[in-house]
Amino acid sequence: MSQEAIPPEVIRWMVEAREVASRAHAPYSRFHVGAVLVDESGQTFHGCNVENASFGLTLCAERVAATRAVAEGSRKWKTLVIVSPTVVAPCGACRQFLIEFASTLDIWLGGLDDAMPIRRAKLEELLPDAISIEDVHREGERPAS
Ligand code: THU
Repeated sequence: MSQEAIPPEVIRWMVEAREVASRAHAPYSRFHVGAVLVDESGQTFHGCNVENASFGLTLCAERVAATRAVAEGSRKWKTLVIVSPTVVAPCGACRQFLIEFASTLDIWLGGLDDAMPIRRAKLEELLPDAISIEDVHREGERPAS
C-alpha cells in the first residue's frame, strides 16, 4: 500500500463517500464507513455499513455498494473509494466478494476528513490466490460425485 498524488476524480468520489458514510447505520460500533464503486463507464454506486442488533447480519459499506452495482447491471468495476474514521482496507469477506467481479480493482482509502492520509491498494495484492469462478468450474480436476 502506498501514498501518492491523488487524481481530482478520486477527491470527488471521496467527498461522495463521506456523504454516504454519514448515512451509515452503525449504532453499535459507531464506525461509519462509506464506499463509492466506479465502473468502466464512470457510473458510481454508493454504500454505507448497515449494522444489526443480531451482529452477524452487519453489512459492510463495500458489499452494499457492490450489490447495488450488480442489481443495476454493472459488473466491470474500475475503482473503489472507501472512507472510515481510521483509514482501513476492506475486510477479508469484502475482498473475496469484490474479487469475484474485479480482480484488478484500484482502491483508494481515506478518512472522514482531510486530516487522514489517503492510501492506495490493488485488490489482487490485498487478496492473493483468491478462489475464482474458474476454480469452481474446473471440471475433470475433482472426482465425479
Ligand atoms: N466495516 C465496513 O463497512 N467496511 C470495512 O472495510 C471495515 C468494517 C464496518 C462493519 C462494521 O459496521 C463497522 O465497520 C466496524 O467494523
